[in-house]
Amino acid sequence: MRVLVGGGTGFVGRNLARLLKSNGHEVTVISRKPGPGRITWVRQKQEIPSKGLPPCDAVINLAGENIMNPLQRWTDKFKKEVTNSRVETNRVLARAIASAEKPPEAWLVVTGISFYAPSETAEYDEDSTGGDFNFFSRLVRACEAAARIPGDSAAAEVTREAVVRSGFVLGREGGAFPSMLLPFRLGLGGPIGSGCQYLPWIHVADLAGIIAHVLESKNVTGILNGVAPSFDTNKDFARALGAALNRPALLPLPAFMVNAVFGSERGEMLLEGVKVLPRRTLESGYRYAFPELGPALRDILSY
Ligand SMILES: NC(=O)c1ccc[n+]([C@@H]2O[C@H](COP(=O)([O-])OP(=O)(O)OC[C@H]3O[C@@H](n4cnc5c(N)ncnc54)[C@H](OP(=O)(O)O)[C@@H]3O)[C@@H](O)[C@H]2O)c1
Repeated sequence: MRVLVGGGTGFVGRNLARLLKSNGHEVTVISRKPGPGRITWVRQKQEIPSKGLPPCDAVINLAGENIMNPLQRWTDKFKKEVTNSRVETNRVLARAIASAEKPPEAWLVVTGISFYAPSETAEYDEDSTGGDFNFFSRLVRACEAAARIPGDSAAAEVTREAVVRSGFVLGREGGAFPSMLLPFRLGLGGPIGSGCQYLPWIHVADLAGIIAHVLESKNVTGILNGVAPSFDTNKDFARALGAALNRPALLPLPAFMVNAVFGSERGEMLLEGVKVLPRRTLESGYRYAFPELGPALRDILSY
């Protein structure tokens, strides 16, 4: 397949491109910066891929300003950038697919499990409702709505549409995990806040694996939760990371410090959790390489 990947220069994108190429696919990235094997968004912004959609068999969008960048203050301007970088790139690609002479076979976007309302007791799967209780859940709903191919186009008939709602992605070369390592290595790590909140996580190899599985399975459509099939709390995560590093992990990071660094709206993402089951992902036939937290962490720390 010829696969076009918006935001393919990022953490998930690089892992996905490697996997797709090793499975025999061709990958072209859409980036704000020009480079080999890339096309650029017009005006170095998330407006429209230059010259419309190039001939391709599948389109994936991973573009989005990094939400948890601790150096970036949580201002209205930054929130707008976080929203536009996702909603507009999805909208632009959905429209380009709708007006393509030969629409691609598959169109997939990655959003997040912040769609589901935080709870220590509720259990969510892909059919659960959500998307309407805070900034992040409304952002997911807006991203998924923007990605829908207009129903009156030919593409609506021929292009398979899928959404992967990702949990916290674990890997060494990106996401939030690398910045957590130092305190844990120094024996200063521990649970965040109460530690009782669920932490839906996924090894980056499995997130890339699920995306490739959707592209390669002709009958998979709709929402799939991109989380491991095990329920772990933040406390379980701290304990497993401490064990993998052979260090104590008992020092809790108090809620007020999280809020001081990230602001209370972003802080909620770390201090509150959701229990999410990847029911449709499992039913679709995807086999996880890392279904359990301990082996996933040991694998990531081994390279
Ligand atoms: N990592 C996680 O734990 C996690 C969890 C849940 C959901 N997700 C979602 O999965 C997707 C990929 O995540 P990731 O960790 O790979 O992110 P990432 O490493 O930050 O990469 C995202 C890519 O988006 C592009 N981008 C950034 N700001 C942009 C802007 N203002 N306009 C257009 N493009 C922009 C960048 O590409 P260029 O610089 O080349 O343009 C960047 O390489 C994101 O949408 C993210 O929200 C990630």
